[in-house]
Amino acid sequence: MKNDFEFFNPTQVFFGRSAMENLSSVLSLYGDRVLLAYGSGSIRSNGVYDQVMNTLQACGKTVTEFSGILPNPTYEKVLEGGHLARASQADLILAVGGGSVIDCAKGVAIAAVEEGDIWTKYWQNKQPLDCTPLPIGAVLTMVGTGSEMDGDAVITHEATKRKTSCWDYSLYPQFAILNPEFTYSVPEYQMVSGIFDTLSHIMEIYFSPEDEDNISDDFAEALMRSIIRNTPVAIANPRDYVARSNLMWASSLALSGILAPSKKEDWEVHQIQHQIAAYYPSAHGMGLAAISPAYYRLVCPHGLPRFRRFATQVWGIDPTGKRDLEVAHAGIDALAAFIRESHMVTSLRDLGIPEQAPLQTIADTCNLRRGGYYTLTRDDVLQVLQNSL
Ligand code: NZQ
Ligand code: ZN
Repeated sequence: MKNDFEFFNPTQVFFGRSAMENLSSVLSLYGDRVLLAYGSGSIRSNGVYDQVMNTLQACGKTVTEFSGILPNPTYEKVLEGGHLARASQADLILAVGGGSVIDCAKGVAIAAVEEGDIWTKYWQNKQPLDCTPLPIGAVLTMVGTGSEMDGDAVITHEATKRKTSCWDYSLYPQFAILNPEFTYSVPEYQMVSGIFDTLSHIMEIYFSPEDEDNISDDFAEALMRSIIRNTPVAIANPRDYVARSNLMWASSLALSGILAPSKKEDWEVHQIQHQIAAYYPSAHGMGLAAISPAYYRLVCPHGLPRFRRFATQVWGIDPTGKRDLEVAHAGIDALAAFIRESHMVTSLRDLGIPEQAPLQTIADTCNLRRGGYYTLTRDDVLQVLQNSL
């Protein structure tokens, strides 16, 4: 581990079929007023709402509902939730849903304690938080973002067409209930979108310096191989508990911090996808799938040994008699084949983005991080977008 690092993850995880049984004991650690945040109603049809509500009532909590959080949550919704949290004097925000609900809840946790233009301060200018957000708990129903065990709140500012994240240790959920059975009702499109999101989180970290022998890369390869094995099983049988539980835990681990030590991290695929979604709200993981092969073909020559290792260690490509670049390209081809075979989106057009989309503006407004093997120019971003159309 060549570079110094800090590791801290405060989220208490309850995992498995009986995970919900722990909700009442953790709820006893907080005050009586709970803001219950959820989306458009999937939790009502799959029974999760009833389980959560029964527990809240049995614990004597006063519940204020904050519903209708849409995918790609907006700043406007964050402010609405902040208002409700203040009016109801909430002691805890309980987010029940996927990444959008949990991210919105994190924004609300800030908006509940700080009025004014928090977007400019924390999302746009990335200032460290100078408030103490309300505590958050999560009941996860859709796998992929890792929001249940990280400190990111990805929010869209519709008026300025910016989608970006605010990060702080105080935004990590205090606890997360992870029952793989809660994900059985997720439609295949959303399930495979979440799977690619997880894979992308791992690749964003893996494809970045440092490349010395380090545990982070070994962990990353193990997680990627697990995802590649379990995805076809979950597609064939969405109620396969072992596959769904492996995919769920892989997702939480991917952004939990354990893969990051000693790595600079890239994240450009995410930066590009976020701006695509700011203009064309769409499933996050599918957007990542649409642009990843083009992005990795562009950066591959600048991180050749790592792309060669990806091909051999993750996809089992036999390097015998092949040049390094050939092996590396075979790994990216295997990734593209996995995207196709897993029914993921293979082009921006499949994502509903028209040919006349303002690709130049999207390229010019990405919040590039420049931590990977290659420093992207705006022209490179445009090239990736055009090659992904
Ligand atoms: O609205 P509801 O009823 O919740 O329905 C959702 C939504 O329509 C549905 N769904 C969720 N659980 C379900 C279910 N349908 C049936 N059964 C269930 N059990 O699935 C749809 C998508 O949900 P959403 O929460 O939007 O998906 P996801 O978890 O992929 O979250 C995407 C958001 O997270 C951000 C993305 O940018 C995007 O805004 N991200 C957050 C990150 C973080 N906090 O660390 C990192 C990621 O890279 C990502 O940027
Ligand atoms: Zn992601």
